[in-house]
Amino acid sequence: MTPSINQQKNLKQFLSLQSNIPADLQHLLIAVSEACATISGHVGRGALADIAGGILGSAGSENVQGEVQKKLDIISNDILIEAGQRSGVLAAMASEEMDEILPLDLTSDLTSSSGSSDKQQGNYLLLFDPLDGSSNIEVNVTIGTIFSILTAPKTDATEADFMQPGTRQVAAGYVLYGPQTLLVLTTGDGVNAFTLDRENNVWLLTQEKLSIPADTKEFAINMSNQRHWEAPVQRYISELLAGKTSARGKDFNMRWVAAMVTDVHRILTRGGIFMYPRDAREPDKPGKLRLMYEANPMSFLVEQAGGASTNGKQRILDLQPTKLHERVAVFLGSKNEVEQVTGYHLE
Ligand code: AHG
Ligand code: MN
Ligand code: MN
Repeated sequence: MTPSINQQKNLKQFLSLQSNIPADLQHLLIAVSEACATISGHVGRGALADIAGGILGSAGSENVQGEVQKKLDIISNDILIEAGQRSGVLAAMASEEMDEILPLDLTSDLTSSSGSSDKQQGNYLLLFDPLDGSSNIEVNVTIGTIFSILTAPKTDATEADFMQPGTRQVAAGYVLYGPQTLLVLTTGDGVNAFTLDRENNVWLLTQEKLSIPADTKEFAINMSNQRHWEAPVQRYISELLAGKTSARGKDFNMRWVAAMVTDVHRILTRGGIFMYPRDAREPDKPGKLRLMYEANPMSFLVEQAGGASTNGKQRILDLQPTKLHERVAVFLGSKNEVEQVTGYHLE
């Protein structure tokens, strides 16, 4: 039975009851959730948003990946940066919308009377895709924020400190700005979802221990790229399309929102497989999606819900990153389908 609204724990209460989440990490998660509630307010007001020029349309700039930035990409980025700085528990941040990492120095008011500075910095690194699914903003289709948290070294953080495999994430999650505003979170002990009570500006626990069924009849891929795919993906998709008449023996349905965050949420809700394979359009790139702030946090969530995630050959969470904005091929979701397509790559 769903608990009544008065019985539902809020995010703060939920976090404080988890034995594995240190106080400074709880503090960071609350700061991120508050930033996302602010972003949700702007998204929800659309053309009415109380920001000069509104939130819709292009910002007229490009990010390091050569993609046109939307105003909402920049607004969301600024809101998250401000929240991260204020949290006081971060050593550095990195974002899809920033070329370089942003190191944080918490020393300012700690300089002693002798003039020596008692260097102090936070314990965590925060990475984010401030706004995922930017092409959906103007058409009023669900978009989101994706984030990943790693632990930081004790001294000044550099980009090299971010180069940790996804298995080292201490928390990951996303916020969906859709008909409901939802926060979906893992700290390594399952996946839980919180709905933003917009009237009271509080996140309430509404779904515990999300679980992805091992089998599915639903797949998500951008079919317009079919001619550019490699042979194992051609084979796998042609079998799904042939359905009952193929060796698979069942028909499949297709969905593609063009916002990974929303496609992954559907999979966490009812199963499915999401794919963004490498393709021949940009042969020197291993894929479109970014490892550190898209694929890693989503893979952590999917595995914590019992699903699987690979780049076609290896578990994504085991990959050793080499660059902040590095790209990766992604196959994630219902375990048996991810194993099937991974098996084709390994043959
Ligand atoms: P972003 O808006 O952060 O740049 O990410 C968009 C990504 C991902 O969310 C989505 O699955 C994919 O791009 C859509 O790509 P296509 O336009 O090729 O469908
Ligand atoms: Mn994205
Ligand atoms: Mn983005």
